[in-house]
Amino acid sequence: MNMTDSLREVVRRERVFDFLVPRQGPRQGPRLDLSHNTILYLEDLTVSFDGFRAIDNLNLYIEAGELRCIIGPNGAGKSTMMDIITGKTQPDSGSAWFGQSIDLLSLSEAEIAEAGIGRKFQKPTVFEMLTVFQNLELAMAQDKRVWPLLRARLSAEQRDGIEQTLETIGLSDLASEPASRLSHGQKQWLEIGMLLMQQPKLLLVDEPVAGMTHQEMDRTAELLTSLAGERSVVVVEHDMDFVRSIARTVTVLHQGAVLAEGSMEQVQNDARVKEVYLGE
Ligand SMILES: Nc1ncnc2c1ncn2[C@@H]1O[C@H](COP(=O)(O)OP(=O)(O)OP(=O)(O)O)[C@@H](O)[C@H]1O
Ligand SMILES: [Mg+2]
Repeated sequence: MNMTDSLREVVRRERVFDFLVPRQGPRQGPRLDLSHNTILYLEDLTVSFDGFRAIDNLNLYIEAGELRCIIGPNGAGKSTMMDIITGKTQPDSGSAWFGQSIDLLSLSEAEIAEAGIGRKFQKPTVFEMLTVFQNLELAMAQDKRVWPLLRARLSAEQRDGIEQTLETIGLSDLASEPASRLSHGQKQWLEIGMLLMQQPKLLLVDEPVAGMTHQEMDRTAELLTSLAGERSVVVVEHDMDFVRSIARTVTVLHQGAVLAEGSMEQVQNDARVKEVYLGE
């Protein structure tokens, strides 16, 4: 009996437990309305931690299908901004809307993910013991507590979805390898693939190329570029060569607010931006 079969066997035996039965059915909750072509509205956001304003009157807009890079010195508030978008941190004031109709501040973290926002943290969190394919299979499951192999087998459509994602992330040849065998860069791609299985409309990626080889960085640039269009991608990254290689619009955050926005060339020539980076 191979590993997949034995896992299936275990799960079948546990089926008596309610929590192991997957919730079925389509996505619940409000539908994403992109009629104004803007997928994310952050307005007048402020968050303080012990009196320190990590986010200070932040206004930021992301278009549908856009690939946006966010840069800024350490402590500028980049990760905190992602925490607000994903419901991990509640702001003291301001608003955050996903499209025209979804008020992010009224939703829980799980509901925000369900509504179509995926976030990739810096450290890859793949399941090392499972194969690349199984990682994607698990990510596809609606209910994260449930082993997806509970279903007797994948539908042709689900299998296609996984295979398509494998191709997108460039890991088709490694599908049946355990994730523990992947390089750091490949694990990052697998995790992006796992997010893609949830079909997000907005993908937030925090420092994707830290620790990658140059070759892996180039491949990641291609991957993120290819993902935009069908969905919006927001990338926070310190590596300027990488940002230059993918950037269309760059937003510079500083002290919790937008300092500058424009093409890479525009922001690099901005006197205030130069000052902030020289001061580092
Ligand atoms: N939960 C928290 N409690 C207290 N302070 C926090 C918390 N989260 C963030 N901060 C503070 O808010 C500021 C912004 O932090 P944040 O992590 O958002 O910066 P960043 O732009 O992501 O920086 P980096 O480039 O180093 O990742 C920092 O001064 C940080 O110490
Ligand atoms: Mg950060």
